[in-house]
Amino acid sequence: MSELLYDFGSGRADPYTFPTQALKRAAEKAIDKLADALADYPGGLGHLGMRQSMARRESDREGIPVDPDHIVLTNGSMQAVTLTAQALQEAPGDTVILEEYSYPGTLAAYRSLKLDMQGIPLDEHGMRLDALEDRLVKLEQEGRRPKFIYAISTYQNPSGFVMPKTNRLALIELAARYEIPVVEDNCYADVHYEGPVEPALYALSDDPNQIYLCSLSKILGPGVRLGYLLARPPMLERIVASRHDAGSNTLAAAIVAEFYEDGIWDHATYTNTALKIKRDLTLEKLAEELTDICVWSKPVGGLFIWVRIPDDIDRKKLYELAESRGVKYLPGISFHYANKNVPYLRLAFGHLNETQIGEGIPVLARCIRETRTSNERPDFTALF
Ligand SMILES: Cc1ncc(COP(=O)(O)O)c(C=O)c1O
Repeated sequence: MSELLYDFGSGRADPYTFPTQALKRAAEKAIDKLADALADYPGGLGHLGMRQSMARRESDREGIPVDPDHIVLTNGSMQAVTLTAQALQEAPGDTVILEEYSYPGTLAAYRSLKLDMQGIPLDEHGMRLDALEDRLVKLEQEGRRPKFIYAISTYQNPSGFVMPKTNRLALIELAARYEIPVVEDNCYADVHYEGPVEPALYALSDDPNQIYLCSLSKILGPGVRLGYLLARPPMLERIVASRHDAGSNTLAAAIVAEFYEDGIWDHATYTNTALKIKRDLTLEKLAEELTDICVWSKPVGGLFIWVRIPDDIDRKKLYELAESRGVKYLPGISFHYANKNVPYLRLAFGHLNETQIGEGIPVLARCIRETRTSNERPDFTALF
């Protein structure tokens, strides 16, 4: 394998805006206050200051009060993905509903729990609710009640789409009608570039069947390994009861809480400004290089652009050729709930610098053209 020059593969935060000095100061202050807490186990919910900080984050964004005692700190939001699935699953083979293309970490966790995944097609408004309803009817006829619906309704990974409020209300209504819990994964919350922010599902319904997951990975860094879930009793107790790790890292939580003492918004605004420049540049380079043969999403938040490539591309060859020229991306198959080799790829733009984006997209575009097996103009004009 050649040197990795253009890493469009991983959904990492921007390393250039990492607040090293401010975190150092926060760490010193936090550790001074921590002797007692570090000599004890954190408990199921975790460090109170961090839960208060995240309750403020949620409350500021959603405009509703959020109880810090409804927040459970986790080892990244990935632990929350697994914990909620374990709490809601009754047996291997249980059914779960999710978007047809979804986050590979979630797919891997659900596969290892042996959940039966039912993928629902997407459109530019996220999970298609007509298709969801049809699937629920069909499953009911077969005597199968899904254990939960997992949805990334904001800056969907990989497509970047946002579900509008009317669809959110319809999803809540549909789930309530069939008595199915909804696990809303808002991992990219606050990585926002423009336009209105749609409300989280938990802010539109106080039904305890609404479960919400969020993370510090995308606004601070995944190495911090801090995420959380928000659930209301009795669902809260049910999820906490499925946890057997003695709680999450108090040291990391206390430092981050200290760092965010005045709210998350100053740092989020700073990082979003840097990320938006990279998103714009990636879109600009794609438009220069691939307009005639590909279409792609134009995300208003999050870290990804989802690209539809021509059907006539040898996808394995494309991946290998790109890799040999130092370009990494994630192929469509990684996101398909049933591992289907679909003609898409996902570009993550947060981790690269602008020079790498400016050089890397043309290299990728050449690889795409060289691995086509025809010269015909593709007949698709939309992503789905
Ligand atoms: C949709 C989604 N959920 C969860 C995660 C897990 O993130 P973390 O465990 O770092 O919070 C990711 C990471 O990329 C993601 O894209």
